Amino acid sequence: MPRLSAWFVRSALIHLTLGFTFGGLMLWNKGLPLHPALWRLLPAHIEFLLVGWTVQLALGVAFWILPRFYSSRGNTKPAWLAFFLINGGVWLAGMGAALGAPAPVILLGRVLEAGAALAFAIHAWPRVKPLSPEVKP
Ligand code: HEM
Repeated sequence: MPRLSAWFVRSALIHLTLGFTFGGLMLWNKGLPLHPALWRLLPAHIEFLLVGWTVQLALGVAFWILPRFYSSRGNTKPAWLAFFLINGGVWLAGMGAALGAPAPVILLGRVLEAGAALAFAIHAWPRVKPLSPEVKP
């Protein structure tokens, strides 16, 4: 597995653990109320699991598995940028909302997430190609 995929997948697993923990706390709080403030974890729960876990896992595996140019993965700089943007975005949008940060902070998080999608697309686009005719699938 390439180094960047390992970072993506490790970070995705951290978000999975935190997201499930937040979900578990909220679920517990529904049955046996612990503290009303636990409901504030909902935006972080959603952001961590939908973007921090599922999207990030997909990016990590895609970086690993998409067709290569012989042994090269092409320009990897935008893919590394996507790693930092998606993680910054998830924390700003998710924890920002959970901690009651002002709307521009959450907006900035979303902009970073969108930037991550764009940066990864710039990296991956040339790698999305059919097999050459002489190679059987
Ligand atoms: C990949 C897995 C998961 C995803 C993508 C996910 C996503 C979501 C989303 C989008 C909501 C908001 C639903 C709404 O407002 O209508 C939500 C709410 C919630 N989730 Fe999850 N979730 C996941 C796993 C879990 C797990 C494992 C737990 C518990 C251990 C959990 C507990 C909750 C609770 C308690 C709520 C609040 C429900 C309510 O409004 O009463 N979630 N989740």
